[in-house]
Parts: sequence; C-alpha cells; structure tokens
Amino acid sequence: MLKRKEAGSRIEELRREIEYHNYRYYVLDAPVISDAEFDRLVAELAELEKAYPEFITPNSPTQRVGGAPREGFATVRHLVPMLSLANAFSAEELYDFDRRVRAALPGESVAYVVEPKIDGLAVSLTYRDGEFVQGATRGDGETGEDITPNLRTIRSLPLRLLKEAPPVVEVRGEAYMSKEAFAKLNEHREEAGEPPFANPRNAAAGSLRQLDPKITAHRKLDLFVYGIGHSEGVRFTTHHQVLAWLGEQGFRVNPHHRVFEAVAEVVEYCLSWQEKRFDLPYVIDGMVVKVDSLAQQERLGATLKSPRWAVAYKFPPEEAVTRLEKIVVSVGRTGVLTPTAVFEPVHLAGTTVSRATLHNEDLIREKDVRVGDYIVVHKAGDVIPEVVRSLPERRTGREQIFRMPEKCPVCGAGTVREEGEVAVRCPNISCRARLKESVLHFASRNAMDIRGLGPALVEQLVEKGLVESVADIYGLKYEDLVKLERMGPKSATNLLNEIAASKKRDLGRLIFALGIRHVGERAGKLLAAHFENLERLMTATGEELTAIPEIGPKMAASIRAFFAEPRNQAVIKQLVEAGVNTVSRETAAAAGPLTGKVFVLTGTLRDYTREEATALIERRGGRVSSSVSRRTDYVVVGENPGSKYDRARELGVAVLDEEEFKRLLETGQ
Ligand code: IVH
Repeated sequence: MLKRKEAGSRIEELRREIEYHNYRYYVLDAPVISDAEFDRLVAELAELEKAYPEFITPNSPTQRVGGAPREGFATVRHLVPMLSLANAFSAEELYDFDRRVRAALPGESVAYVVEPKIDGLAVSLTYRDGEFVQGATRGDGETGEDITPNLRTIRSLPLRLLKEAPPVVEVRGEAYMSKEAFAKLNEHREEAGEPPFANPRNAAAGSLRQLDPKITAHRKLDLFVYGIGHSEGVRFTTHHQVLAWLGEQGFRVNPHHRVFEAVAEVVEYCLSWQEKRFDLPYVIDGMVVKVDSLAQQERLGATLKSPRWAVAYKFPPEEAVTRLEKIVVSVGRTGVLTPTAVFEPVHLAGTTVSRATLHNEDLIREKDVRVGDYIVVHKAGDVIPEVVRSLPERRTGREQIFRMPEKCPVCGAGTVREEGEVAVRCPNISCRARLKESVLHFASRNAMDIRGLGPALVEQLVEKGLVESVADIYGLKYEDLVKLERMGPKSATNLLNEIAASKKRDLGRLIFALGIRHVGERAGKLLAAHFENLERLMTATGEELTAIPEIGPKMAASIRAFFAEPRNQAVIKQLVEAGVNTVSRETAAAAGPLTGKVFVLTGTLRDYTREEATALIERRGGRVSSSVSRRTDYVVVGENPGSKYDRARELGVAVLDEEEFKRLLETGQ
C-alpha cells in the first residue's frame, strides 16, 4: 500500500484520468480504453480511498454510485428565475414570433439558434471554481429542490469543469432518460409487478426526486445542457458561443443545434425534425428557437412566465385511431401475464404498428377498453405502443369486456394475483412459456452470452422436450441439434462451441442469468464479488445479503426464496455437474503466481491479443492497468510500443519483451 502522501497524489491522478475517460465515454461517445480498464482504474481509486478515507471528496468519481439516503429535499432559490417557454404549434405561429422579435428590434439583423427541445426535467447546476457544488430542480421557477447527490450519479455530468473556470457559473439543462433506458425500466417494473412510467419524462422526474440517490444511480439518466443562468467572471456575446463554451467545459450539448438568419430556414429546420425525431435515441417534443445575440435577448426581455426571445415549436402529438381486434395474453419469464392489444395496422411515430401493450388488467378496466372498440394508440417515449383510450361513442353494442384468464394460457395452471401487485402470474415455474423466456434470458448477451441460441431455436428445443430447464442446454448433443429446423452441421457445431465456452463465464453473469426476481446485471456482479462462489450465496442469510450496499430487503427476500426452491436447487446442481463456473474470477485469480502484480501492456504482441494477454495475467492473479505509474510491476512491450514504454523507462519499471512475458506466465518468475 502506498504511503499517505503518495496515495494523495495517486488519488488525484486517478481522478483526473477517470474523469477524462468518463468524458470520452459518456459525453463524446468515443472511449479510448476498454470498460475493463476503466473499471480497474475506479477499483484502484476506491481501494486507495478506502485506505485513506480522509481523501474522499463528494466530487470523487467513486461517489457517482450515490451516497446515503436523505430525509427530505432542501429548497434552493434560483438567482435567475427559471422561466418556461411560450409555445408555437404551427409554422404560422413561428412566423408570428419572428415578426414580434423584429418589431421590437427595428432595423437590426437577427440570427436564431434552433435546437431540439428535450423532453425531460429542467435542472440547474452550479459550479464554484470549476467544482460541481449544487444541483436543483426548476420547481416553481423561483425555488427548486436540492438534488445534488442524485445529479452526481449522471455520468455525463462533469464533476469538475475541464478548462479554466469562472468563480461561479450556473448551467441549465435537461436531465432525461433515453428511449432504451425507459423501455428497459418499464419492462423490469412490469416483471416486478410495479406500475410502469407513462413516459421518459415521468421516469426521469421520478428517478431524480428519489431521496435515496442509489436508486437514481440505477436509473440511467442523461443530460443535455442548453444555457447559463447566473454567472460571475464570464461574458459571451451570442448563445451559440455559450453552447460552444459549455461543450469545451465537458458538458453534453445537443449536436443538432444550428444558427439561421432567415426565418424561413428556421421554420424548415423545425419541420424537418417532425419525422426525423423518431430516429433519435431520446424523446424530443419540439424545437426551441432562440435569438442568438445575448444583447438582443436582454433588450427583448421576458414576461412573468417566459422570455420574449425564445419560443418552443411543439410537434403535434403522434396518435392514431384504429380498431381493436383482439386481446392476447402472453406469459413472461417471471410468470407475469401481459395482455396485448392486436389492432388494424396504423402508422405511428415512424413505424407501422398492430400491437400495443395494455400493461395489466387494472389499466384495461380504467381505460374501459373492450374488444371491438375503436381505440386511440400512441407510443410511450416514442417507442412503446400503448392504448391511450377507447372511443365509447363509436360502439355498436357488440364489443366484449375482457377478463384476465384464470388459467395460464400456456400450461393451464391457476393464475394468482399477489396482494398489492397489479400483475397476474402463472405460478408454475416449469410452465413452457416461462421456460422459453428463462432460456432466452439465460443465453442473452449480458448473461451467459450464448450466441445463436435465439427465439426460433429455443421454441423448438422446448417444444420437442429437449430442454426442460436452463441446465439442459449443457446436455444438448450434436445429433439433437442437427435434426432441428434451420440447423445444419455447421451451425450445430458452432452452437455447441458457444455453449461450451459459456461454462467459463464469470459468476456475476451466472447469477444474473438464473433470472432471480429483482436481481439485475449489477446485483449479479455485486453478489459475485461479495460471496465469491455460488454455494456461499445460496446459503446466505437475509442479514448477510442486506449488509451489502445496494441490496435491499426485497431483493434479499427474492434471492432467499429462489434458492430455497428445490427445483431451482436441482437446476443448479445440474449446472455444476455440467462444469459451469460458479466461482468469482477475482477469487480464482487471487491465488495465482502473479498475485498482486500490476502489468501494463503496450504495442502489439505476436501471439496474443490484448484481451488474451489480459486474461492470462488475470488467471494467474495479476492485474492489468492502463497507465504506467510507480505501482506498475511490469510493462510488457510488443511491436510499435507507445509512450507507456518511455514512461516505464523514466520510472525504472521492469520491461518485458514477449519472450520474457511468456516465461513469466509459464514459470511465474
Ligand atoms: S431554453 C427561459 N432549451 O423546456 C427558457 N429549454 O418550457 C429556458 N427544454 O423548462 C429554456 N430543451 O426544461 C430550453 N434546448 C432547450 C430545451 C429546453 C428542453 C425544456 C426546459 C424548459 C422547458 C420550457
């Protein structure tokens, strides 16, 4: 372990490095190191901070996972009020806005900046001497709520500004949830029997207003900034300059902003996004048009509610009317029965749709949706087709009221609805529908990653009785596979190789793959790191589980219930017998001949890829770091080495060529 002083400077060095890579990844979307390398830097920092807690600061990148829950939110008074925007609903209203602006600025030329209107939650971010010190919601525009720890969890929010910073700057922007994160969050909520969020904006607001920032940290929020409120010691002349400066300081600024001089171009640009918006990974509900010159903005001023120098062009809501033909019920991995509306195809938010989720029985009743009804459909978050309401005035009297089946439509088991839950479930864990979903989940990319084991194949494997539990995957034989539809000798062999390779996956993936309710990818990793092998996790008590930060009582209860079930125990026994790895790689590594040794790789090795060399080192207990420091034990040098080689020389760190590296791997010396 480093001495205190050295630790202090290494901590600072690591923070800068981590923040830089964080910026490359989350803001520029152009990472320069692998995720594993990044994780290692964070692990090294966390380790040093654990040994020297006096160095921990609220803006350390390790604090992005969220601190302790709070009692309530303090209020924050905005030094410059956070106004809202006047709306324009047509091209004509945009022209009206332009006429008003020009009338107030007689004889002057006017330029506009047009930018997407992100559908999220307005936030105010205060930086003092370049450090993020306070984040707040808009509230009523005069005072908002202090949500600083929650905002820190947003990875694209800079904790420190990149360039020389003014004494105070209060940046404004929109925190939002991407369409993908929203869809996933709702999927998980429905699996857990919780009500879904209506749209990404509600999901973002609900996530940011959590008293426990750890929940916020799980919710994958993102940020675009679009302006400055109060500031001291910086001056700008135009809005587009402000945006450029914010970009240089490390913020995410929406790349689709443009400057125009002619109002016709402004209108054309706004209209051009009406359809294009569906290709964006986040929801925009309009375009914001702003006068570019800040001096002109000041002269135009504001009404009580909104500035006169800006307007929001709002897209018309995407809705369509169609006829509900039937309601089908499917069974998911956790046994939840989901009703889906099947209707005459309509064009909606960029695609043709004919099915929409109805979520659950209560919502169908609330919306009074009947089979045969004319219905209004839209896409929640522009992605998930949903039935908004029925049109009872168009009923003929032949419409049918829907009832959730009392028996599972797949296996016939009696369905159950637990108290306090909206979901109806099939309780039979061997139900074929549940089994198919479980196998697909087990094989999915972030779980055991068995490529080629997709829906069509799983369907056949389950229907033919070849797979009755996820463990049966490991008993599949070439003769079984080659006979299946769309399977040839080559694909059968490939699949068997994939299945064999999946046995080596890390324990965290296996835990996630088992499909324990409430246990996601991250929880899988945490549990693996804590318990180190599956057996210990299986016998863990409730207290042991909840002692792990981020594991709550609900998850703990679900884990205990899963392992208490004899059928699940049998599946695990079968997995172990098949040779599936049940030990955390970190533990396996800890005992190797290179334990505690830190390696840095540079240049191209002849016989190994980077990943292979890393795996070889880790399997022997070593660790690979991305940067050379005094703590590095060996720098392995391939062809065309980079600056790391020079740095190793400078610091006097041992340098190995490929032959020496091989010898070390073989002999440990
Ligand atoms: S400018 C003085 N720009 O829309 C008005 N707002 O009703 C400052 N919004 O509360 C707002 N994207 O949360 C501006 N590019 C953008 C925006 C944007 C989304 C939100 C913001 C504001 C609301 C306006």
